Amino acid sequence: MQHVLITGGAGFIGQNLVHAWCKARPDDRLVVVDAMTYAANVRSLEPLITDRRIQFVRGDIGDAALMRRLFDEHHFTRVAHLAAESHVDRSIADPEAFLQTNVLGTFTLLKTALDAWRSSGAIDRARFLHVSTDEVYGSLGPDDPAFTESSPYRPNSPYAASKAASDHLVRAFVATYAMPALITNCSNNYGPYQHPEKLIPLMIIHALEGKPLPVYGDGSNVRDWLHVSDHCGALMSVIERGRIGETYNVGGGNERNNREVVGLICETLDEAFAAHKDLASRFPSCPAASGTGCHSLIGFVTDRPGHDHRYAIDAGKLATELDSRCSVGFESGLRQTVHWYLAHEDWWRDVTSGAYRAWIDKNYGFRIAV
Ligand code: NAD
Ligand code: TYD
Repeated sequence: MQHVLITGGAGFIGQNLVHAWCKARPDDRLVVVDAMTYAANVRSLEPLITDRRIQFVRGDIGDAALMRRLFDEHHFTRVAHLAAESHVDRSIADPEAFLQTNVLGTFTLLKTALDAWRSSGAIDRARFLHVSTDEVYGSLGPDDPAFTESSPYRPNSPYAASKAASDHLVRAFVATYAMPALITNCSNNYGPYQHPEKLIPLMIIHALEGKPLPVYGDGSNVRDWLHVSDHCGALMSVIERGRIGETYNVGGGNERNNREVVGLICETLDEAFAAHKDLASRFPSCPAASGTGCHSLIGFVTDRPGHDHRYAIDAGKLATELDSRCSVGFESGLRQTVHWYLAHEDWWRDVTSGAYRAWIDKNYGFRIAV
């Protein structure tokens, strides 16, 4: 039985990981710490909190006193560190919070864990998993080989630079203080509970509300899409069985350009409306409600500055060393995801009120059709 701290557990991947962890390792004791920024939502965790399956603490990973108190009270032997500011466009508009949380917050958490594990003697059996991104490696050309764990770091956005800095801190703690840490760098996740500022949920919700589908630039940018359930499986393998000090890349093996992704969302919605007549009355502004394809909403808008052209992951090390592989194909995973958003209107209406509306005005107000 392990005592586990999951940071950022009320975020998209965090919520999915908490559920996956409780299912796979029911005897472990889980504490979730989350600052409850705009990106967080605890609704899906409420049954686990009520049943005392997990303990939830609202708090900032940069609060050293709180972190130390949690380590002293709970004697964690596993830390899965996911808390972060995670959206590239927000990092372009306001980079400061990214440095605070991703760099300084990670430093505080690392130092607290190291001090606590050294003084309790748990350092030999403890493990700290730092969850990071493929964006630290920069951008690939169309024919470049996929990123490996030894690809050079070349971050292009403030988000990617802040994650790169946090990865370097973890590496330095391993080399300098024998910190029992591991790093994963994964590609773009998708699936249930993703905040609608990210490409896939944003396009689904805009289409349902009959709003334009804003594709940046010419839509040729390529991402490798990883279903969040596959990612969570990989994280649990790495934290238990990965080699301390090592980095593992996690990818979905699903490279698609943004035009293809948005096109598939439109097709899936058109099919869903054709098959389920009630959708037209629930979402009357969606073009699919009147039999016009959702494609009619696609528009190309001002590109993101420094927009990375392509990400691709070579996940061979994870497969060879840990026998961990992805199983969700992109077309079926995306279809499931579209249906999840159709079935969870309450969730995204809740998330898209207030602060989210202000963000939409800020990020899309200046983008003109091109
Ligand atoms: P998210 O933005 O949905 O969730 C992040 C969570 O961290 C939120 O609940 C937020 O409230 C919390 N948080 C932010 N600042 C905090 C602080 N100072 N203290 C405590 N909690 C704080 O992000 P996500 O998509 O779930 O990503 C989780 C991790 O995975 C991040 O580290 C991100 O960099 C990494 N990652 C995500 C993706 C992806 O496609 N979503 C891809 C690669 C890597
Ligand atoms: P995003 O979900 O922000 O993830 P990331 O930037 O971390 O890869 O964006 C995924 C891709 O979709 C990226 O190439 C930018 C593009 N994009 C759009 O074309 N329009 C949008 O409104 C958004 C949010 C993203």
